[in-house]
Amino acid sequence: MAMHVRPVLAANWKMNNGPTAAAAFLDVFLAKHGACDDRTIILFPPALTLAAVQAGLAGRADIGVGVQNIHAEEKGAYTGESSAAIAVDAGATYVLVGHSERRHVFGETDDETARKCARAVQHGLTAVLCVGEKIEQREASETEAVVLRQLQAGLSALAPDAIRAIIIAYEPVWAIGTGRTATPDDAAAVHRVIRAALCELVGDDGHAIPILYGGSVTPANVAALLAADEVDGVLVGGASLDPLGWAAICAA
Ligand code: PGA
Repeated sequence: MAMHVRPVLAANWKMNNGPTAAAAFLDVFLAKHGACDDRTIILFPPALTLAAVQAGLAGRADIGVGVQNIHAEEKGAYTGESSAAIAVDAGATYVLVGHSERRHVFGETDDETARKCARAVQHGLTAVLCVGEKIEQREASETEAVVLRQLQAGLSALAPDAIRAIIIAYEPVWAIGTGRTATPDDAAAVHRVIRAALCELVGDDGHAIPILYGGSVTPANVAALLAADEVDGVLVGGASLDPLGWAAICAA
């Protein structure tokens, strides 16, 4: 069953763009990108840049803002961390969970991604659960198993209605920041596996859950990726740091 999912274009700035740089970015980006209601655009700045992004977006309710991470616990003695409640209070409506850098640089486990997704939902944040295999896993033909394990684990603490409200991002680790993009066919093959798993969990509603592709997306390759089967949007790192390039991606 084919269902039209409104495209989602999401920018993951990672540890780039402080408040000053973000204001300059938005001046250029917003002048180029007029409001449009046929797609969802989300910016994920560093947490300390969130307020500046919100100030810069004033009057542009067409663009959503999220944080790149939350802690799984509600609150307490976790120096350096921010909770879902703090993210909401600061104006975030989305949160990335289980980004490959969280998993592979900071050692985040499947169990933590499950708890973070649950905490996000509890506070009304829309979680973007990121999954993806490493190159050695792809070469060992483990892509499907890894992605399904991360997906099922990440969603394991959610009720069906919460799963219906989630966003998934498939980001093969070997394609992130490497300039090596998955082909549209590579992406589609994994997105079909994810779609089938989502439909097993929530029935036909699984067709309406956005599945984004991420990994070296650029203005040059975004249209072909968005045209691929079951690709409902993109999560963009490096290429989202150039305001004009990001505007081109948002117009794709
Ligand atoms: P990239 O990063 O576009 O720089 O490859 C994507 C991501 O990590 O979300």
